[in-house]
Amino acid sequence: FSDVESDLTDILFTQDEIHAKIAEMARQIEADYAGEKLLLVGVLRGAVMVMADLARELKLPLEMDWMAVSSYGAGTQSSGVVRILKDLDSDLEGRKVLIVEDIIDSGLTLSWLRANLESRGAESVEICALLRKPDAAKVEVDVKYAGFDIPNAFVVGYGLDYAEKYRNLRGIAVLAPHVYA
Ligand code: PRP
Ligand code: MN
Ligand code: MG
Repeated sequence: FSDVESDLTDILFTQDEIHAKIAEMARQIEADYAGEKLLLVGVLRGAVMVMADLARELKLPLEMDWMAVSSYGAGTQSSGVVRILKDLDSDLEGRKVLIVEDIIDSGLTLSWLRANLESRGAESVEICALLRKPDAAKVEVDVKYAGFDIPNAFVVGYGLDYAEKYRNLRGIAVLAPHVYA
């Protein structure tokens, strides 16, 4: 964190804590999808780190595909308008889909995305999200695999950005208000 330390307040989770949580979620996913061929759908760009670590942790045959949707742009508030910036390459007909996300904030992105993927004929669509902000929820999202619940603060690192910065931090930290004030 040293190069951006003054931009951060609390460190919420270290790299080791994140990896332990991902391993825990992976064990549940392995149990639930034993004998199945899973399609992991990572939501660009925030979910890149979770996807990379979760996929390598899972001892299951799986495929990875990517979608880019954005509701935030450069601001800190969700606009609620979800745009598809890049669509999947895979056909979802009959597939067991697991959406992989870094964070559920208002829930608007994922509730829209789940409905969108279900409408393409997937056999099942479940969600794995590393972080969840219960106090920020505008719509309830049924998350089968949830990592940590966090307070309603702006967090960065491990894929999470503010104006495209900080995604490469190994841990997850709260962004200091002076950065976006
Ligand atoms: C962030 C985050 C989630 C979404 C959660 O993505 O990665 O995808 O917002 O917010 P919500 O629950 O309020 O909808 P963002 O739109 O910032 O794009 P990014 O992943 O490229 O950073
Ligand atoms: Mn995202
Ligand atoms: Mg973002």
